[in-house]
Amino acid sequence: MAFTFFILNSLNSHGALVHPHPHTLSLFLHQIHLLLSSLSLLSSSPSRSSHHPLSLSHPQTILRIRTPPSKPPRQTRPYNHSPHSLSSRHFHRRSISGPPGPRSKRRRFLQPPRIPPTSKIINSNQHNINSAFYGPTWRLLRRNLTSQILHPARVRSFSGTRKWVLDTLIRSLKSESETKESVKIIEHLQYAMFCLLVFMCFGERLDERQIRGVENVQRRLLVNFNKFNVLNLVPRVSRILYRKRWEELLQIRKEMEEVLIPLIRARKKVKEDRDRNADHDEGEDKVQNADHEDEGVVSYVDTLFDLELPEEKRKLDEGELVSVTTEFLNAGTDSTATALEWIMANLVKYPHIQERVFEEIKEVMGNKRGQDNNNKEVKEEDLNKLPYLKAVILEGLRRHPPGHFLLPHAVSEDVVLNGYLVPKNGTINVMVAEMGWDPKVWENPMEFKPERFLRSEGEEVFDITGSKEIKMMPFGVGRRICPGYNLAMLHLEYFVANLVWNFEWKAANGIVDLSEKLEFTVVMANPLQWVKINVDGAAKTNDSLISCGGVIRDNNGSWILGFTRSLGSGSALLAEIWGILLDITKGLDRGFGNIIIESDSLAAVHLVNKECNPDHPLRDIITKIHRLMSQAQNVKVVHVYREANRLANALASYASSMSDRESIFENVPNFCNHIFSEDFRKVCFPRRVSSQAFC
Ligand code: HEM
Repeated sequence: MAFTFFILNSLNSHGALVHPHPHTLSLFLHQIHLLLSSLSLLSSSPSRSSHHPLSLSHPQTILRIRTPPSKPPRQTRPYNHSPHSLSSRHFHRRSISGPPGPRSKRRRFLQPPRIPPTSKIINSNQHNINSAFYGPTWRLLRRNLTSQILHPARVRSFSGTRKWVLDTLIRSLKSESETKESVKIIEHLQYAMFCLLVFMCFGERLDERQIRGVENVQRRLLVNFNKFNVLNLVPRVSRILYRKRWEELLQIRKEMEEVLIPLIRARKKVKEDRDRNADHDEGEDKVQNADHEDEGVVSYVDTLFDLELPEEKRKLDEGELVSVTTEFLNAGTDSTATALEWIMANLVKYPHIQERVFEEIKEVMGNKRGQDNNNKEVKEEDLNKLPYLKAVILEGLRRHPPGHFLLPHAVSEDVVLNGYLVPKNGTINVMVAEMGWDPKVWENPMEFKPERFLRSEGEEVFDITGSKEIKMMPFGVGRRICPGYNLAMLHLEYFVANLVWNFEWKAANGIVDLSEKLEFTVVMANPLQWVKINVDGAAKTNDSLISCGGVIRDNNGSWILGFTRSLGSGSALLAEIWGILLDITKGLDRGFGNIIIESDSLAAVHLVNKECNPDHPLRDIITKIHRLMSQAQNVKVVHVYREANRLANALASYASSMSDRESIFENVPNFCNHIFSEDFRKVCFPRRVSSQAFC
């Protein structure tokens, strides 16, 4: 097994890099980023940083930024272990790296990192599973979750809810695909997972407005959490310096309580009524129909009301209930939705794999693709008959684990690992993604090849918990392994199977971009089914009359839309800026979120990419551009040479021969057909450059 991780000491220690590296500075910055990320101990985030090209690329490299203060490194005898022999018994509490050895030795690795102030607010001072120290409270909360909600029988009791969520998802995907050119599926997946987890948490099918209310406040927390990390560095000072941020954090916490406490109270009442009626109902047959289907359901919050904290000998208060339910909602939604999107993206990118999944389902379902009304759902009990589907899910988790790191773990006392001292309280981040990509363990690791998980008859299925051998760990391993891994696998299999059965998936413009970006989890930088477009802007002066023109093309260079507009009199720069404004407007109108605007005016590109001077004569229009840019997912304005911008120039020039103020071209117009086809064929043109360019 490739054993790749790195270690960060506490901030107030000092020392030197133990392991020199050519990219020391970049690494240091990266690690500071990671350190900041790791301080954000919000439970639900398995990820603390994206894969970075400069992060440790060699298995077994351990980096320590600083050694502990005055203590000289103790010469503890290094554990002599081969990374290939690690198994989950070496992983305990929030610790990851415990080598084989007696129990007492292994436990040296078991201390969780210190909890930063911002996290204390969100986690009610460590009263939830992920932030609790290993001890009675953690044990109580974790055991409650696994035995009361994640137990197979209880998971089965939610199968009606999964069907309801699936139907909602399919309906919303269908209706959006009928009205829009492309559908951004991640939003649908996130909402679906939210519906599911909100129901499991509160036992009620809330309406869309209520679910969106819960989702919005949770999402605000996730999206902004890294921003609050600065409040953890010298908290007393940063609270004054970043007062607004501090207030924003408190505001989010307040909103979480405003949204969740009414649901908690309503559920408490339902439970009390139910308990009161229990005696009365005894012996009577329960009416089971669609309206009453959810009546007897035991939700997560039901199981929390009566828990008694072992150390404090009291029940959880409302604030703590908010923290524990928030953990549940966040842990199971973003991670699963992100994994789903990655898996679906690979099925789109590799149609032969999608086809094989479909054929396997067809064997079991024995009918045409989701067309027969009685045959639209791939049922949960059928999933076990679909080994190739399982292999696809595992390959998706190996190749694109939603979290590139586990939650941070800390060592409880100095320990030497592979010859390096891991000082007490050092925080360890395990590089999950690197493990899944280790060429020593996986053949051609960057290839998406589900076959590697197929087993011949009689062979043991792949063990994702790493109890015998650890080859990857998208859910962690050992005592702190994700308790929801079985539920997550069920959700992934059920939704992928049904999405493939009900739709044929194709890329909106033939391209699936598998680049990554770090949000709360490591997500697709260019979400599935989004169209990435190129837009050119240009201007032509004619006496003082100006015009602009632009063309929207997709990644392949295919024509989407062209336009040209007369602008009256003004400067060439004004025309260029107008061109950019119209480009963004038209791109957004067409529902495109990823827009690259190419302009041959360096001045215009500089102007829109910078803060605008308040005295600048074009300030109003530039402010408008900035506002539009903030509405889109991703807009870039870049400079290209005039030769690369001939099409937009031709369109801009055409304005002088038009009677209308603006013309829109849905197809390539004749007057620029030849330029378009040369661009399409990528015909090159010589460019005169100054000799200095070669110096
Ligand atoms: C694809 C989906 C999921 C992935 C990839 C995932 C991954 C992880 C990872 C990597 C950890 C940290 C393990 C460690 O630090 O050693 C974790 C912890 C956790 N996960 Fe998940 N998870 C997923 C879904 C879920 C679901 C559905 C739930 C519950 C409904 C859940 C609940 C938790 C909890 C409570 C913890 C903290 C455990 C502890 O500290 O003892 N997760 N998860």
